[in-house]
Amino acid sequence: MSSLIQTLPKAELHIHIEGSLEPEMMFTLAQRNGIELPYASVAEIQAAYQFENLQSFLDLYYAGAQVLQTEQDFYDLTWAYLQKCAAQTVRHTEIFFDPQTHTDRGLPFEIVCNGITAALQAGREQLNVSSHLILCFLRHLSADDAMATLEQALPYQDRIIGVGLDSSELGHPPSKFQAVFDRARAEGFLTVAHAGEEGPPEYIWEALKLLKVSRIDHGVRCVEDPALVDYLGEHQIPLTVCPLSNVKLCVFDTMADHNLKTLLDQGLCVTVNSDDPAYFGGYLNENFEAIQTALALTDADLTQLAQNSFRAAFLSAADQQRLAIG
Ligand code: ADE
Ligand code: ZN
Repeated sequence: MSSLIQTLPKAELHIHIEGSLEPEMMFTLAQRNGIELPYASVAEIQAAYQFENLQSFLDLYYAGAQVLQTEQDFYDLTWAYLQKCAAQTVRHTEIFFDPQTHTDRGLPFEIVCNGITAALQAGREQLNVSSHLILCFLRHLSADDAMATLEQALPYQDRIIGVGLDSSELGHPPSKFQAVFDRARAEGFLTVAHAGEEGPPEYIWEALKLLKVSRIDHGVRCVEDPALVDYLGEHQIPLTVCPLSNVKLCVFDTMADHNLKTLLDQGLCVTVNSDDPAYFGGYLNENFEAIQTALALTDADLTQLAQNSFRAAFLSAADQQRLAIG
């Protein structure tokens, strides 16, 4: 691993905490909670992680999340990820969680939220990792379901900085959630949304214009609309790009085909992120390493990407500066 990648202070802005569930922990939690897994070994799980598209990944990701049952499970999951952050010089992280994945199978919202936020607090105190929490609505479920989830989150607003939109993109445009996002913003939440991962540039426009998001998660299909690229550059709307994810989910055939460097060279506020590190082959530094090698990124590119991650974070200018200096 290049020493610059290792030592650069970085922020991560696109990580689904359920996507940091490593196969070893999946086994431990399954055993702890008396759940039978359809796999006999860690190697068998790893062998199953061959995806053709987003949906083929999501099917395994939602199945894996079933082993999470108790507040301690959510704590352990989050703590393991924060230890990775500390080891990789990730000074700040903005974590997504998918409450509907858990409340739909009968877990109380409170269990999920308490476990994650207790670990985040311990991470601040014991690991010096700064963090925020973002609630993502599952877009394959209804807007009414999302609205009910938002209402469940209101008592926890001091611990949740924003809301986002994830899960199956195609057929579920941002416009479906306009009223939910209007309400979320009125309640004081910041907003982000996955758009332009598999979906067309129109979904990115909808996220910007209808959901009024501060950042676009993925957004790599913006290149198909030059006016959109201009807009993203002019307004410096951050894109939280996830290179290993994009190749694993066949958004790009190989890492050498990835458009991250093109977008960076066009002056867009591109950031690097891991998305679901336990499923896609690496945490933040492994994503940096993969693009540095495949796209011949310079030290100046790497430094720019790290700087962008703090500029795009939901932090005051003073905190951005403090954390970026490390
Ligand atoms: N949930 C977890 N990872 C995701 C991704 N890459 N796209 C959409 N939803 C997700
Ligand atoms: Zn994602």
